[in-house]
Amino acid sequence: MACSGKGGTGKSTVSVLVGARLASLGKRVLLIELDSGLRSVDIIAGVYGRTVYDIEDVLCGRCDGDKAVVQSPLYPGLSVISAPYEGGIVRTAPLSRLTAAMSPYFDFILFDTAAGMGPAFEAGAAICSRALVVLTPDPVALRDGRIVADRLIADGHPQDALRLVINRLMPDSFGKHAPVYDLDECIDTVGIQLLGVLPESRELQRCAMLGEALPEDCMASLVGSAMAGRLLGQRIPLLV
Ligand SMILES: Nc1ncnc2c1ncn2[C@@H]1O[C@H](COP(=O)(O)OP(=O)(O)O)[C@@H](O)[C@H]1O
Ligand SMILES: [Mg+2]
Repeated sequence: MACSGKGGTGKSTVSVLVGARLASLGKRVLLIELDSGLRSVDIIAGVYGRTVYDIEDVLCGRCDGDKAVVQSPLYPGLSVISAPYEGGIVRTAPLSRLTAAMSPYFDFILFDTAAGMGPAFEAGAAICSRALVVLTPDPVALRDGRIVADRLIADGHPQDALRLVINRLMPDSFGKHAPVYDLDECIDTVGIQLLGVLPESRELQRCAMLGEALPEDCMASLVGSAMAGRLLGQRIPLLV
């Protein structure tokens, strides 16, 4: 699952990016957005307007899980279950049943959770085997990320099941006069291993806004491929 503590750090962006790149490597990927009311995966993954049923419909038993699964027209191999536009509280038991029912058909099931440690986080944390803590390189996001990571570890997740993603890195993010000195400070503050560093990307923002596919050769796609490869156990050096 993707989580953060602080809002707007790029959980949905990274979920779609990593999901799309895992799919391009031949994996069958289901991305479930759990951020009710603040949905954005539908636009980034291009399923906006194609969704009839959402995760709330499934969790409340109004439809079977497969009815809510929509193929991304932008990223072959990536399937999505969208969050509702409003309302609904994610509960662990039905989400767990859905995950079990879907798992024979997918190699990866990704939960894109909401900011904070509310019901979406709780349910995702109870079910997932690995968590990506997606943070921007600023002291507030990093401190909140530490709290989230500590919570996951206290709940029984092994430390090496947690991975840090630093998102929206800019040329002036680090340095003597910046609030955070360097990448090592990010890793030390949060206390978990790094999965990848995604720079600020106009291309990524533009594609997300317009619901277009991210070009395969842009930096964000390359970083996404590297993160996907590392999740598959490959040793890939940092690109940024
Ligand atoms: N690396 C990036 N470069 C540029 N914009 C980004 C990047 N990552 C996220 N964004 C933008 O930041 C905003 C919040 O991202 P989003 O993925 O929706 O965050 P969250 O799911 O954590 O709330 C969106 O407008 C998104 O396009
Ligand atoms: Mg989101």
